[in-house]
Amino acid sequence: MAFRTKIEQIARKNESRIVLALDFPFEKPENRDSLLSKAESVLNAVHPYLCAVKFNHHLVLPLGAFGGVEKLVERVHDYGLVAIMDCKVNDIGATNQVIAEYYYATGFDALIANPFIGWEEGLQPIFEVATRLQRGIILLTYMSHKGAGEGYGQTIIDSETGEKTHQYIAFAKKALALKADGVIVGATYPRKIEEVYQVLGEKVPIFSPGIGAQGGEIRSALKAGARYLIVGRSIVGAENPAESARQIQKFTRQ
Ligand code: XMP
Repeated sequence: MAFRTKIEQIARKNESRIVLALDFPFEKPENRDSLLSKAESVLNAVHPYLCAVKFNHHLVLPLGAFGGVEKLVERVHDYGLVAIMDCKVNDIGATNQVIAEYYYATGFDALIANPFIGWEEGLQPIFEVATRLQRGIILLTYMSHKGAGEGYGQTIIDSETGEKTHQYIAFAKKALALKADGVIVGATYPRKIEEVYQVLGEKVPIFSPGIGAQGGEIRSALKAGARYLIVGRSIVGAENPAESARQIQKFTRQ
């Protein structure tokens, strides 16, 4: 089953559009065993309120893909959720292919990639691996941080029409043409979500990070067209992560 169908089915079943960013602050390498237990305990508490879990370098660097992370991904699957690797693939094709093969071998259902690298000898090898293994690819379109506009917001000349457009609009069109499983647009830029939604409609779902800790708001992101909310510190760093996730879930149910 295609990744986007899988996550949509889970979201409906669990009545949740929350993708948990399972991120923790830096720990001294000698204390890394405690990271695995912390990650397990957050997952155990929060899984009923999620549709997916997103991993980042926060766990892959200290625990290793085939060390603790593979175990955590297995647990995500045992809970009936999907696992996304936020590796923002951004290298030459031959390297990207190896990155994708390893992460998919770890069990990840989808990877995040950066469309700035272009198709030939860039994204193409990752899409080929994903198609062969029936996994997903989500493309960055407009990142959530303050400096995002310097790259994703640039005015460019559309290579097909010769007209001026914005980089993120060109990336949204590329995601549609490539049948990507999703795009990322920061919740910190609801107007950009709206513009990207105008390009994609319901054909490619918008994943939106930046809720809470980065200043993005749940309601405005959803109203603008975000389908999934990526939330990390507001849940993981909360005194009661399950309660925090439950409160956010209420919004995504409406
Ligand atoms: P917080 O704690 O800010 O965590 O809720 C957000 C998580 O998402 C990652 N992040 C992004 N990932 N494109 C991405 O692919 C983005 O624009 C983006 N903004 C935040 C962040 O690294 C953390 O894991």
